[in-house]
Amino acid sequence: MTQTMPTLTFKVGPKISDKEFEELSTFIYERTGIAIPATRKYLVENRLGSRISALKLSSFGDYAKFLRVAPGKEREFEQLCELVTTNETSFFRDPRQLDVFRDEALNEVVERQKKAGKQELSIWSAGCSTGEEPYTLGIMLHEMLRMAIIGWRIRITAADLSPAVLEKAKAGLYGDYALRNTSPDMLARYFTKESGGYRIHPKVAKLVTFTRLNLNDRAALKAVPRSQIVFCRNVIIYFDDDMKKRVISSFYDNLVDGGYLVLGHSESIHKISRAFSPIIKPGGIVYRKL
Ligand SMILES: C[S@@+](CC[C@H](N)C(=O)[O-])C[C@H]1O[C@@H](n2cnc3c(N)ncnc32)[C@H](O)[C@@H]1O
Repeated sequence: MTQTMPTLTFKVGPKISDKEFEELSTFIYERTGIAIPATRKYLVENRLGSRISALKLSSFGDYAKFLRVAPGKEREFEQLCELVTTNETSFFRDPRQLDVFRDEALNEVVERQKKAGKQELSIWSAGCSTGEEPYTLGIMLHEMLRMAIIGWRIRITAADLSPAVLEKAKAGLYGDYALRNTSPDMLARYFTKESGGYRIHPKVAKLVTFTRLNLNDRAALKAVPRSQIVFCRNVIIYFDDDMKKRVISSFYDNLVDGGYLVLGHSESIHKISRAFSPIIKPGGIVYRKL
């Protein structure tokens, strides 16, 4: 008996050449500060391949040209931002670090503002992804100030490069995965259950303003209101040292004297800036502007 082999059809996208990778990774770096090493060429090929067919182009070289000269280049840049960024986040991400932040920085800032008779607070969540981080900060402020929060003017500026994550953030609706570090108590107090998931409570949502902002656009960063606290966790990990220096220097300029910078637990400014004093505690580090 003869057996016929089933025909398997694979959809094979175009391959990226070294020259095309160089061209695209340079474009991405120039526009976003995100540095993609040559060892991750496959990532560019996998993630951006879909754009070539969507735009009916035939190669990555054509795509690089499209991004630079086509009439729809700015909209395509937004698509590109979605594809090259990593948006992993969650409510109460890295809880031990958040405890250090609350005890070493937030408490002190709140007390300082009270003493100065200024019941106001500005926080910048830079690289806020789908909103879990700035909303977590809003919940922490509710927990700390309790009823007195009514008398405070609180502004959490939550900014990201990718328009798609900001849309999700504004919707404020989350599933179990985003809430995996959230206690039942916090869930009950700050969310309402709906058919599509859990909706952040308006009393938290109203503290947060979402905006599109590219950390590589130094002039645009100057427009962010001055802050007592800058949160930029798990973002500079994607930048090279030059970009890290530019971004940290923008945070320095934005912070008031004695303001605090919080980075991701695997990130450090040790070799990047001497303008902050690190407060090192078991569980995490916060940086105080000198
Ligand atoms: C891994 S998420 C971190 C989210 C959150 N801060 C946290 O720690 O859970 C990194 C975010 O940084 C954003 N990002 C990357 N490069 C950026 C840039 N140049 N300007 C603004 N945001 C950027 C990405 O879009 C992404 O949402």
